[in-house]
Amino acid sequence: MKTPQSKTQPLPIFKYFFISLFFSLPLLLLLYSLQRPNNQPTHPPRQDSVSDLRIRPGYASYDAYIQRQLNKTLNPKLRQIWTTRDWDRKVRVFSSFFDDLKQKKLLSNQSKALCIGARVGQEVEALRRVGVSDSVGIDLVPCPPLVVEGDFHHQPFDDESFDFEFSNVFDHALFPDKFVGEIERTLKPGGVCVLHVAVSRRSDKYSANDLYSVKPLVRLFKRSEMVHVRKVDGFGLDTEVAFRKNKKTVNQRS
Ligand SMILES: *[C@@H]1O[C@H](CO)[C@@H](O)[C@H](O)[C@H]1NC(C)=O
Ligand SMILES: *[C@@H]1O[C@H](CO)[C@@H](O)[C@H](O)[C@H]1NC(C)=O
Repeated sequence: MKTPQSKTQPLPIFKYFFISLFFSLPLLLLLYSLQRPNNQPTHPPRQDSVSDLRIRPGYASYDAYIQRQLNKTLNPKLRQIWTTRDWDRKVRVFSSFFDDLKQKKLLSNQSKALCIGARVGQEVEALRRVGVSDSVGIDLVPCPPLVVEGDFHHQPFDDESFDFEFSNVFDHALFPDKFVGEIERTLKPGGVCVLHVAVSRRSDKYSANDLYSVKPLVRLFKRSEMVHVRKVDGFGLDTEVAFRKNKKTVNQRS
């Protein structure tokens, strides 16, 4: 037997249901939007070129990173070895690398050359010995007359200063994109950068990144073309990669 009440009962229930749904909508939308980034990939899948370059964790600040790099550069025992026992052998080996690059027309006596992370300047001495007289190095700690003070993340040089840049300290870069960006900024159009890197073995405890192939380098050198890759025996570094910065097109010329 139906009472008047039972006839009107369904209406309040639906009303309250819809009212509560209406007021909970913003909350549901909020929860949905908070959850979405975890459930849906916001970036494309990691490519080889990205995962082949890993930045080592553990630096609380840029200053902490610089302090650690300084600690190696300033180590008196190491500096002693670099300038005495190591000097002749390293200058000789670097000279043969640079002679070879001259034969490949990537370097000439007239090149204005920079060595990045040159420590005490063995590679600068080698460049001068093979006839590249206008050459200098940078490091966090200067070592006159071959090496001036400079952070490779912020090179102390104007745009388009050099014909040739060499480095075997890519693994020490905390910001590889800045390391390469600064090289491309300070190279003249058509200038050459040669890097010695380790891809099949791990470098030392002062390294800030690990490289597992040359693909990340090709990605980082945005304004250059790769000229060659070859195996070398370079003091623990096994691969030489050479890039040539693109020449300006007619439209870009000022
Ligand atoms: C810096 O190097 C010295 C040895 O030269 C070492 O005793 C010290 O623990 C190092 N400090 C840091 C912060 O790595
Ligand atoms: C470059 O310099 C070296 C060393 O001074 C010299 O032997 C060589 O002949 C020079 N090469 C050219 C092409 O001038």
